[in-house]
Amino acid sequence: MKTYRRIVILTGAGISAESGLGTFRDKDGLWTKYDLRDVATPEGFARDPAFVHEFYNARRRGLLTAQPNAAHHALARLEAEHAGEVLIVTQNVDDLHERAGNRNLIHMHGELARIRCGICETVTEHRADIDLATICATCGRAGAMRPHVVWFGEMPLLMDEIHEALEACDLFVSIGTSGTVYPAAGFVAQVRRGRRALTVELNLDPSDGHSLFAERRYGNASEIVPAFVDEILRGEI
Ligand code: OAD
Repeated sequence: MKTYRRIVILTGAGISAESGLGTFRDKDGLWTKYDLRDVATPEGFARDPAFVHEFYNARRRGLLTAQPNAAHHALARLEAEHAGEVLIVTQNVDDLHERAGNRNLIHMHGELARIRCGICETVTEHRADIDLATICATCGRAGAMRPHVVWFGEMPLLMDEIHEALEACDLFVSIGTSGTVYPAAGFVAQVRRGRRALTVELNLDPSDGHSLFAERRYGNASEIVPAFVDEILRGEI
């Protein structure tokens, strides 16, 4: 029976699609309705901060009604029941993994439920709307609060910890991501170079980097993720 000692699971917008949160690049995805240069770059924020606040306020409000789906719950079960370590590295800014019960979790693109002061850099938990008048609870200044999300042109968070985990893992699973945004899109190649880990893609359709994965399963995350977790817990994969 196979037991993995260190599992790293990369997740993307596809795992939250069935919870009602839109993806970016699918038909009707966010980047078909908005120009990412307007709402997901420091330059866009500098040009029109009110518009960017409204975009993230709407997404933050969306979290209030979204619930974790069977795929999130299956990953929480894996972390709770698997004998080895399970680390989730998510590109998602929603909080559905933690609400399902995952604790060993890195939000490499930040979190919608946190805001950051551009003056004192303090990050605080915040679930209400923000605007140009929002005051930083730490330094008391207004006008510099921004969503604690990583924009294009900015460095994703905790990359040293992520690279270390990728080097050490013996199973790497990519779930619900199109494999188009780096550095996350390059994780599978990094793991393959180490020749130590099985690589698995679980997605609705083949991602851009699908051929780099040793195993691939396609379908809705709410169906294929629980089935895959059962296989790991039974030592069948
Ligand atoms: P994308 O929108 O690029 O890709 C979503 C993937 O999920 C696609 O490959 C879909 O086929 C798949 N998918 C859709 N519904 C699914 C379902 N029910 N079950 C399983 N898979 C499904 O989203 P990401 O790859 O997460 O970054 O995007 C990566 C980054 O690009 C995001 O973190 C964000 C975005 O711009 C920043 O904003 C910095």
